[in-house]
Amino acid sequence: MKENFYLTTPIYYVNDKPHIGHAYTTILGDVLARYNRLLGKSTFFLTGTDEHGQKVEKAAIEHNMTPQEQCDTTVVNFKELWETLDITYDNFIRTTDPNHKKVVCEILQDLFDKQLIYKAEYTGRYCVPCERFFTDKDLVDGLCPECNRETNEIVESNYFFKMSQYQEWLIDYIETHPDFIQPAFRANETLGFLKQPLNDLCISRPKERLSWGIELPFDKEYVCYVWFDALINYISGAGYGSDMEHFNKVWPASYQLIGKDILTTHTVYWTTMLKAMGIEQPKSIYAHGWWLLGESKMSKSLGNVVNPMDLCEEYGVDAFRYFLMSEMTLGNDASFTEENFIIRYNSDLANDLGNLVNRIVKMTLKHFNGVIPKPNALNEDDNEFLDITYSAVCAMQDSIENMKLDKGLNKVMTAIRAGNKYMEKTAPWILAKNKDFERLGTVLHTASEGLRIFSALLLPVMPDKMRELRSTLGYSEENATCADLSKLNKENAICAGMQMKDIVSLFPRILVEKKEIKQQPKKNKKNKKEPVGLIEIDDFFKTKLKTAKVIEAEKVEGADKLLKLQIEIGKEKRQLVAGIASSYTPNEIIGKMVVVVSNLKPATIRGVESQGMLLAAKSGKELKIITIDGDIKSGASVG
Ligand code: ME8
Ligand code: MG
Repeated sequence: MKENFYLTTPIYYVNDKPHIGHAYTTILGDVLARYNRLLGKSTFFLTGTDEHGQKVEKAAIEHNMTPQEQCDTTVVNFKELWETLDITYDNFIRTTDPNHKKVVCEILQDLFDKQLIYKAEYTGRYCVPCERFFTDKDLVDGLCPECNRETNEIVESNYFFKMSQYQEWLIDYIETHPDFIQPAFRANETLGFLKQPLNDLCISRPKERLSWGIELPFDKEYVCYVWFDALINYISGAGYGSDMEHFNKVWPASYQLIGKDILTTHTVYWTTMLKAMGIEQPKSIYAHGWWLLGESKMSKSLGNVVNPMDLCEEYGVDAFRYFLMSEMTLGNDASFTEENFIIRYNSDLANDLGNLVNRIVKMTLKHFNGVIPKPNALNEDDNEFLDITYSAVCAMQDSIENMKLDKGLNKVMTAIRAGNKYMEKTAPWILAKNKDFERLGTVLHTASEGLRIFSALLLPVMPDKMRELRSTLGYSEENATCADLSKLNKENAICAGMQMKDIVSLFPRILVEKKEIKQQPKKNKKNKKEPVGLIEIDDFFKTKLKTAKVIEAEKVEGADKLLKLQIEIGKEKRQLVAGIASSYTPNEIIGKMVVVVSNLKPATIRGVESQGMLLAAKSGKELKIITIDGDIKSGASVG
């Protein structure tokens, strides 16, 4: 029977678009899933979105949408990004899926029936952004221990999950299962947290405070706490409660990937929930570190959130995947700067790998019509290069098993650099000049064997570029997209006689000037011929300009510059506030045919409602309204 590999990512909140942090965890999951698939394991990779709770409800209100609309709109951003990033998830779970909601209700009812959930009055400190309750002693300097923000005191009746009774069990479980929480220092962090008495977990929210959630099956006045709902995705998304055969096949999860921000919810809430449900624990919960932007935390309010789509568009998806995987030492924080990105791209991908590929392919095409030559006796140089190459296979395997992906990739790069050294040392161009085709054949075969190995090892990280490389080497479409990782050894070396194809540069160098252009958006961006700031005609037509006749005009009290106008747009009458009082008296403007933006959202200016905007030309203090040259009725469209 095939070995199983079940992998999860957190399910992301749909209050906002995905950023580089979300992209990171999901790409990491994808690399691990692809690697394990290539190892021949039966792999199940789950990701999805967390759609209930206060954060999402708040975002919906801000965006003037219903919560469901907020979810349905934002989930598209995640799905599109995963498609762009070539994420091969097997299931995408949304917590608003009917099946998930049904499973959550069944679990709630079951725990309630077993009296593991009870009702009680509660006084606590609640942090809205974190959606968590804290006790007074949890607070740090009176503020939320997670995010340093103010908390509110709340007294209410709620339902509680008897989490506290599992404290001793959990401590013991963590201590006796060293791989359970990784890296090990995160296990210590959880054990540290468990030194304090563990409270029961409030798992309900009264509807009057929050209505966007799964209604408790045993009390209509409440919805389920978003974390209790969300964590269940890891089992409902794998078939628990609907397809038990599948669930039993994949569970326990091999790895549950999370960021360090959600360590406690996963290592304390989730584990005790599973315990209460009588479900086995996952084999490992792995918390990775934080991507910083330069030195600082990414945050929307700082306006420094990196959009993964932009980077992919500019530099390519695979380069982006490679950068994230090689730059972060798993477990620790890492810093993202575009400069580092370009440096690594140019050195690892354009220079080391790109160069090696180019040399080997071009020479094989030139001297052997692209047919991979037969090797003759290997000498020390050949063996030295092959040894380093095959040792990268073990290193990569090891690094995947021990979650040290960056180390494995580093070893592969070391071998690639050894490849370039090998080329310089054996100087195939001189062998060609001297017509020593026997030795040249051996060198190019050996070097091509290197490319076979590198392309296979890097396939999970750069699926598209490595497929391209493998197809250049002469592999069929199927073998180009797939590589049998158990065959990365001498015995299965690349076959002489395979027909190589020509390749266009895999990773064209990024010119640094290009980056400077990017940093100065006022100059021309990508294409020098095209000035920035140009819009499509459709963008222009979003603005509906109409002629309007001014019927009445008066000053707005207390505002020197504003006139309140009553205008007529065809049959429609509207009120509009215009900042033209320093250039026009009310009498001057009455009767004029002006141009207005008719589809602007209404705004209140100095307490006066304004339904539209009047167009005027302005130069310094001078201001002239835009009027119509000749007779035309009001309500005519302008454009
Ligand atoms: O917490 N660096 O969702 P979320 C690295 N819905 N990873 C980052 C990151 C950064 N700067 N920012 C975000 C939630 N992440 C809950 C999870 S699970 C049952 C519910 C990644 O949208 C990282 O994986 O806030 C982190 O744990 C996750 O996104 C949080 O995403
Ligand atoms: Mg978060």
